[in-house]
Amino acid sequence: MNEFPLRHLAIIMDGNGRWARERGLKRVKGHEKGAEMIRGITTYCASHKSIETVTFYAFSTENWKRPKMEVEFLMKLLDRYLKNELETYQKHGVRFQAIGNLSEFSPALQKRIKETEELTRNNTRLTQILALNYGGRLEIVDTVNRLIKAGKTEITEEDISSHLQTPYSDIDFLIRTSGEERISNFLLWQISYAELYFTPTLWPDFTPEELDAILKNYQQRTRRFGGV
Ligand code: IPE
Ligand code: IPE
Ligand code: MG
Repeated sequence: MNEFPLRHLAIIMDGNGRWARERGLKRVKGHEKGAEMIRGITTYCASHKSIETVTFYAFSTENWKRPKMEVEFLMKLLDRYLKNELETYQKHGVRFQAIGNLSEFSPALQKRIKETEELTRNNTRLTQILALNYGGRLEIVDTVNRLIKAGKTEITEEDISSHLQTPYSDIDFLIRTSGEERISNFLLWQISYAELYFTPTLWPDFTPEELDAILKNYQQRTRRFGGV
């Protein structure tokens, strides 16, 4: 029995493209369906007794390598997603926050992100973090540079943990969909003792029911953190 409550869940939403291809659809149709699936998982997390934060990997610093048309579609989808989700955030007490290098997004999209953060800032049931133009290495380097600018000459682990872009707790449990078993530059600092789970389910097929079953697996794990 896991004595550490699951407070911070992280999810690498992977497999949208394969989901679409399997159905003879364009990759972007997979992204569209994938975006719709976030709501159910978020509301599940909002009603869960111990989860305080759920962080979704939505766009990595490496995803700019994709065809221009796909990247542009993802940007539009993100804007539409935030606009449509506001109602869900307010109804379920979800605070929205973004992490990543947002300055590379269009001014309109940056505005939408900031506005959504502002409008939901007093919600307390759950924090939903979207990692957008996010890279784990970049986050660590940015944090160290900020500390240097502030005059630090020697940097501790505690300094980094408390000066990350959004200084939030370590990840307890990381789930990746689509059968790929890698981290792809997600939350490198925060996952040092996270429990990992890889499911073959493609993200557009991932339901709250499957999440519920996977969380039972977390409950059975013994976390030792290097102890006995
Ligand atoms: C994840 O699905 C969504 C993003 C990375 C934006 P993919 O688009 O990576 O789907 P696959 O891995 O090609 O199936
Ligand atoms: C990781 O998925 C990024 C997101 C889910 C946003 P990718 O599909 O981009 O990762 P790789 O290329 O398979 O490692
Ligand atoms: Mg992928």
